Amino acid sequence: MEIIIAKNKEDFDRIAADIVSQQIKDKPDSVLGLATGSTPLGLYAQLVERNKKGEIDFSKVKTFNLDEYKGLAKTHPQSYYYFMFKNLFGKVNIQPENINIPNGEVEDAEKECEEYEKKIKEAGGIDLQVLGIGHNGHIGFNEPGTPFDSITSLIDLDKRTIEANSRFFDSIDQVPRQALSMGIKTIMQARKIILMISGKDKAEIAQKAINGPITTDVPASVLQLHPFVTVVLDEEAASLL
Ligand code: GLP
Repeated sequence: MEIIIAKNKEDFDRIAADIVSQQIKDKPDSVLGLATGSTPLGLYAQLVERNKKGEIDFSKVKTFNLDEYKGLAKTHPQSYYYFMFKNLFGKVNIQPENINIPNGEVEDAEKECEEYEKKIKEAGGIDLQVLGIGHNGHIGFNEPGTPFDSITSLIDLDKRTIEANSRFFDSIDQVPRQALSMGIKTIMQARKIILMISGKDKAEIAQKAINGPITTDVPASVLQLHPFVTVVLDEEAASLL
C-alpha cells in the first residue's frame, strides 16, 4: 500500500484528482469505478474543473458506480444516481451510455446485480477504483462480515451505516435498509485502487484498515492484499497511523 498524507483539504482533493486524471490521460478509454459519499466530493469538483479547462476528456471513459440504495427513485436527492449526476456526470463530457450505476428501482435486484457484474467483465474490468470508507470499515456497502469472495449483490445495511447515513434524510425511518453493491471480490479485481479517508472520525478505522489484521470484521483491511492501492488521507484521518 502506498500511503499519502495530504497537508490540507485542497491537497487531499488535488492528490486524488491527479491520480484519476493521470489514469484518463494514460488510457482515454479507462474504466473507472466510482464512489459516493462526502469524501470524494472535492475530487469530483476538481475533475469537473479540469474537464472544463480541457485538461481531461471523458468522451471515451466508462464508469461503474460501487453501489445504490434499494428502493430509492433515481430522482430522489439521496439516490446515488442523483448524487453522481449532480456532482460529476452532469458536468463533464461523459457519454450517457458509458455510465453504469446499479439500478435500485428494479423489482428483481438479484438479477440486476448479476447483470451488473457481467457488464463490468464485458467492459474489460475496472482500471481504477475510487473508494471511500465507512466508520465500520465498509467499502461500497460491504458491511463487516461480508466474505472476501463476494460479488455484486443485494446487501442488508448495518445499523451503524443506517444511523450514519440518516443525516441525509428527514428521519432515520426513511433510510433504505438494503442496497445493491459491488462485492469485495469485484472491488479487488480492479487493477488499481485509490482509497480516500478524511476526518478525525475516520482515524480509528483508517488505522485498523491499513495496519490492523486482515479480517472480514474490517472489510477495507482486505485492501492490504491488493498490489496497487494508494491510500490518500488528510492529517486528521492519519493521526493514529
Ligand atoms: C456510504 C457509501 C460508501 C462511502 C461511505 C462513506 O455509505 N456507500 O461508498 O464510502 O458511506 O461516506 P462518507 O465519505 O460520506 O463518509
